[in-house]
Amino acid sequence: MRLQGKVALITGGGTGIGFEIAKYYVKEGAYVYITGRRENKLQEAADAIGSNVGYMAADVSDLDDMKKVADKIKAEQGHVDIVMCNAGIGGYVALTDIDEREFDRVMKTNVLGSYFTVQACLPLMGEGSTIILNTSVTASLGLPNFSLYIAAKSAMKSFTKTWTNELRNRKIRVNAIAPGIIPTPAAGGELGRSPEEEIERQKYRATLIPAGKVGHVSDIANAAVYLGSDESAYVNGIELLVDGGLAAIYPVKL
Ligand SMILES: NC(=O)c1ccc[n+]([C@@H]2O[C@H](COP(=O)([O-])OP(=O)(O)OC[C@H]3O[C@@H](n4cnc5c(N)ncnc54)[C@H](OP(=O)(O)O)[C@@H]3O)[C@@H](O)[C@H]2O)c1
Repeated sequence: MRLQGKVALITGGGTGIGFEIAKYYVKEGAYVYITGRRENKLQEAADAIGSNVGYMAADVSDLDDMKKVADKIKAEQGHVDIVMCNAGIGGYVALTDIDEREFDRVMKTNVLGSYFTVQACLPLMGEGSTIILNTSVTASLGLPNFSLYIAAKSAMKSFTKTWTNELRNRKIRVNAIAPGIIPTPAAGGELGRSPEEEIERQKYRATLIPAGKVGHVSDIANAAVYLGSDESAYVNGIELLVDGGLAAIYPVKL
C-alpha cells in the first residue's frame, strides 16, 4: 500500500497507460480521479476498477473543464496529492504538412493541457504533493515526421525543471516519465496502421531495443507508483526514461 490515503488525478485515465496507472494506484491504496473526453470510456474504466475511483468527462485544453474537475475533487476529497498529466496525442506528419489545425491539436492537448491541469489543481495541492508529466522517449530522439509531437513532449520535459523551481517553496515535486514504445490504442490503429501492420512493426522494433521487447503499460504504471509515492521524496525535476534502454543506444531506425 505505497499510496495509502493519497488522492490522485490522472488525465486521460480511461484508456491505455493512464488506465493502467489508475488501476495500480487504487491497488496501492489511493483514491483516483480519471478524466478524458469520452465519458463512456471513463465509465467502462471506472467499472473495471470497481472502487475508490471517480471520473468526469473533461477536455484538458479547456480550463473551465479542468476547473470543474478540481471543484469535484475539492468537494469530495478536499485536496489532491498526485497530479498526473497523462492525456496526450500526436501523429506522424511531415514538417512541410504541419498546419495550424494540427499544431493546435497537438500543442493544445499536450502542452496547454498540462498547464490547465496543473493550474486548476494547484489550489488543492499541499506540501509533499507531486506532479508527474507523461512525456516520451521521443523527446530525446530526432525522429523524422514526428517533429510536432516531439516538440510538445520536449516542452513538457522542460516543465520538470521550470516548475520544480517555481513550486519549490510550496514543496511540490515535479517529475516526468518518458515511456518508450508501449502498445496502446494511440500507438497503433489511431496512428493509421492496421493491426497486422502494427504487430509486424512492434516485432521489428523489439529487435532494436536493448531490453529485447517493446514495453508494457505495467512498466509505466510501476514507475508512476514510485514517482507518486513518498519513496521518491528526494527525486525532483527529473525525466525518468522507461524505454528498455532505447534512448541510450539511439540512433537506430525506428
Ligand atoms: N503508447 C506509447 O508508446 C507512448 C509512448 C510515449 C508516450 N506516450 C504518452 O502516453 C500518454 C498516454 O497515451 P496512451 O499510449 O496510453 O494512449 P491512449 O490510450 O490513446 O491515451 C490517451 C488518453 O488521453 C485522452 N485525451 C486525449 N486528448 C484529450 C483531451 N483533449 N482532453 C482530455 N483527455 C484527452 C484520451 O481520452 P479521450 O480521447 O476520451 O479524450 C485517452 O484516454 C500520452 O501522453 C502519450 O503521448 C505513449
